[in-house]
Amino acid sequence: MTNALPVLLDVDTGGDDALALLLATASPALDVRGITCVAGNCALEQVVSNTLTLLDAIGAPPVPVAAGMDRPILEPGLPAPPLHGRDGMGDLGLPAPRRSEAGVHAVEFLRRTLADSAGPMTLICLAPLTNIAMLLRLYPRIEDKIERLYVMGGTFAAPGNTTPAAEFNVRYDPEAAAIVLHSGLPVTLYPLDPFVQVRFTVEEARKLTQAKGAGARIAGGIALHYCRFFGMEFSLIGDAGTVATVIDPAGAASERRPVHVALSSGATRGATVFDRRILTDGFAREGEWTDVDVVSKVDATRYRKLMAAALGATEALDD
Ligand code: BDR
Ligand code: CA
Repeated sequence: MTNALPVLLDVDTGGDDALALLLATASPALDVRGITCVAGNCALEQVVSNTLTLLDAIGAPPVPVAAGMDRPILEPGLPAPPLHGRDGMGDLGLPAPRRSEAGVHAVEFLRRTLADSAGPMTLICLAPLTNIAMLLRLYPRIEDKIERLYVMGGTFAAPGNTTPAAEFNVRYDPEAAAIVLHSGLPVTLYPLDPFVQVRFTVEEARKLTQAKGAGARIAGGIALHYCRFFGMEFSLIGDAGTVATVIDPAGAASERRPVHVALSSGATRGATVFDRRILTDGFAREGEWTDVDVVSKVDATRYRKLMAAALGATEALDD
């Protein structure tokens, strides 16, 4: 009998999704019951291949990996951002995967797994929300089996990263994000604001690449890839921070705020607009707004340590 929280992860692996998978699979606090893949950081086939490659490389126990939606609901999808490398996972040259995908569509896998679960489950969504939106639209009654969605996406007070107003996961499939964030399900949103707060220095990344564990060495390689790409002295743990908030919620400060997903074409498409006014009751608000818990700030030191400890490489950190 274990107290680990059963979770499902939805990913577009993705260097920083890989860091998130390393943390989630290594943490005794989580029981990863399945990983669903969606197009985003790279094409769907590459996302699946990267995910299987990573799991093999760390000798992870068997866990179902299901391929899902290969494009957004409405638009053709954005070009793969170059920052993740040619293979989308930092070009580490890992051996091709021996394990295979589950052979069931991700949306169907999510439905089955949730339906078969004794109680509601936690979903950790680190990618465009296409799979999750399709799940909610196709099987609305499955909502009863969702405890909470932890979603990496959007911005709170920070600027966007894909457009001046919009973050990548939401901008990639704004309709999907609107369906999920306006579903009324309990949502904890992990936006770009905390996403950019948790970092490894380039020196720490180098030390990770020398660590004993395969997971730590891969994490170091990915971090070094990002340092090189951006020409910076540090790299973000990115999506892994969302997993950290599930494992250690006390390290995150959140606010309950109404959010609106902007769907109009033009400069604001894919923006997450929050009503951050001090007085909101009785004041005008046009369009659809839904309360979510938004993480505004995290304890970066605590989450760096959490990540390094999960990788068995606390000695790699300078603090
Ligand atoms: C998000 O977009 C992707 O590039 C990352 O994997 C992360 O999920 C950040 O905007
Ligand atoms: Ca991602």
